[in-house]
Amino acid sequence: MMVQTSPCALLFWGLLGCVWVLPVLIAPSSPTLCTSLRTLNTNLTQRRRYMKHNFPINYTIRVHYEEVFKPRNITRLKSQVEGLEAQDLQEVWLLVNKEVLKHILRVLPERHPSYRYTFSLQDLFLKVQQVLPSPDEWEPPERIQEICDRVKDPDYPGWTFVTPKSLLDNFYRTMRCLFSDCFSIQYPEEPNYCNVSHLLRHKSEHQT
Ligand SMILES: *[C@@H]1O[C@H](CO)[C@@H](O)[C@H](O)[C@H]1NC(C)=O
Ligand SMILES: *[C@@H]1O[C@H](CO)[C@@H](O)[C@H](O)[C@H]1NC(C)=O
Ligand SMILES: *[C@@H]1O[C@H](CO)[C@@H](O)[C@H](O)[C@H]1NC(C)=O
Ligand SMILES: *[C@@H]1O[C@H](CO)[C@@H](O)[C@H](O)[C@H]1NC(C)=O
Repeated sequence: MMVQTSPCALLFWGLLGCVWVLPVLIAPSSPTLCTSLRTLNTNLTQRRRYMKHNFPINYTIRVHYEEVFKPRNITRLKSQVEGLEAQDLQEVWLLVNKEVLKHILRVLPERHPSYRYTFSLQDLFLKVQQVLPSPDEWEPPERIQEICDRVKDPDYPGWTFVTPKSLLDNFYRTMRCLFSDCFSIQYPEEPNYCNVSHLLRHKSEHQT
């Protein structure tokens, strides 16, 4: 279902270079939120060093299926879930990545060279969570509720194994997709992180 948008608003989003076919899915982020997200972003750019080089080759962590949350999932949810709002996706992003950071911290002894890094990521992430306006009465679409329930259910049997680097890649890319308005000013050449086909090409050019 599409929310009625005034021509003015469309012009505004058009000028920002956003994907305005789905204006309902984009909500402007506050300056404080953007500041916190940019700090988190800066630290996340170090993820290869701390999540790949410091770990054994092909080391994986067990996570729920739903904790694999990529730009592709966002594209799919946007096209499949009726009445989906920006807030729904942001709540999933918060919930999933809170768990992801917990999973990584759980396997790291305090003296591991990646422990402090992950700990400070969690700190920065909690700051984002504090400033992200949270709904008083959030009534997400059924599909979103189902994802949240599964992530929260320790007994849900859908497990998969993923490298820590890949978990943080997803963390980073979905952040840049969902909060692109915080980054488009800082990085005018910002690739469209929501665009899955773009990312696939990007990935094959810069194979890790
Ligand atoms: C991450 O952020 C924290 C707080 O801003 C900072 O103290 C820390 O040095 C950063 N870590 C890395 C590896 O960038
Ligand atoms: C790591 O995984 C890759 C891809 O699955 C595989 O080709 C490689 O042999 C693995 N390396 C080790 C040391 O297991
Ligand atoms: C994302 O997609 C994968 C399959 O590609 C699925 O296993 C996972 O549950 C999805 N994550 C969410 C949060 O919907
Ligand atoms: C997505 O990326 C592809 C390949 O880079 C490009 O051809 C396409 O126009 C992009 N789509 C959008 C909506 O930006």
